[in-house]
Amino acid sequence: MGYAIEVSGLWYKYPTAKDFVLRGVDLRVGLGEFLGILGPTGSGKTTLCMCLNGLIPHYAGGEMIGEVKIFGKSTRAKTIAELSKRVGIVFQDPDSQLITSSVEDEIAFGLRNRGLSEEEVGRVVEECLRRIGISHLRGRAPQTCSGGEKQKIAIAATIAGRPDIIVFDEATSDLDPISVRDVFSLASELHESGKTIIFVTHEVELLAERATKIAILADGRILLEGDPRSVFSRLEELEELGLRLPQVVQLALGIGRMGHAIGRLPITVEEARDLLIELGLGADELRNRG
Ligand SMILES: Nc1ncnc2c1ncn2[C@@H]1O[C@H](COP(=O)(O)OP(=O)(O)O)[C@@H](O)[C@H]1O
Ligand SMILES: [Mg+2]
Repeated sequence: MGYAIEVSGLWYKYPTAKDFVLRGVDLRVGLGEFLGILGPTGSGKTTLCMCLNGLIPHYAGGEMIGEVKIFGKSTRAKTIAELSKRVGIVFQDPDSQLITSSVEDEIAFGLRNRGLSEEEVGRVVEECLRRIGISHLRGRAPQTCSGGEKQKIAIAATIAGRPDIIVFDEATSDLDPISVRDVFSLASELHESGKTIIFVTHEVELLAERATKIAILADGRILLEGDPRSVFSRLEELEELGLRLPQVVQLALGIGRMGHAIGRLPITVEEARDLLIELGLGADELRNRG
């Protein structure tokens, strides 16, 4: 399998900073992977994202050691404009990304730059507005929209460019719970259509359901990496970092403390339900509810 992203021995220091923020990141992301990234605030998640589309080193300056390859090519050898065609990033603070005076233009902007006909632009804009559920915002000025609406506009503008790799960097932090779920569903749809997804978030339940792989970033390094079950089984390390466990994992641990033997750790609601049935805990009620 080819790699979409290969990060090797990556160290990075901001121009004005004394210390390195990334301190030896090694990470490979397979083509078509859905990678969740978890880590405490300040661990370097956003900085790492900025390395994926070339903002580091091309825009931010500073000192970068090591290498980031996107589809086998070093980001040092590519411009930000070239990289932005392959890697789309939605950052937590959409104000930094919204640059035009209408939602429609915001989504059309990148498309026009690529020389699409006005008819094609219109079609893609419609489709993206609909997929994110913001068709009603079409004519609004992004600056007048709420924080959550701005995040949705930034997501729509990013997927409009059809990048192969889509990075969500805490891009759902201002959304209501239903919209958060919708964005995860959208990310899963994009994943199923062959895109490589990187999702930086604290929504551990949704990651447990959707991610193919999870990486934990701590103090500028990848501390743990693996499929969701193996990562969420590393209770002590996660607790030490102050990271929350999925609620069903907490439930299973509680049941374990009651003296029941937990075989495979459940990480989704369905798996937790199966475990309760298996252990004979409220089984009849659960069965009756189907
Ligand atoms: N432009 C900058 N200049 C100097 N230091 C920065 C800059 N941006 C972020 N940092 C510092 O780098 C560290 C990692 O930040 P960041 O990548 O935003 O972490 P995270 O996204 O995990 O919260 C933090 O200590 C932060 O203060
Ligand atoms: Mg961040």
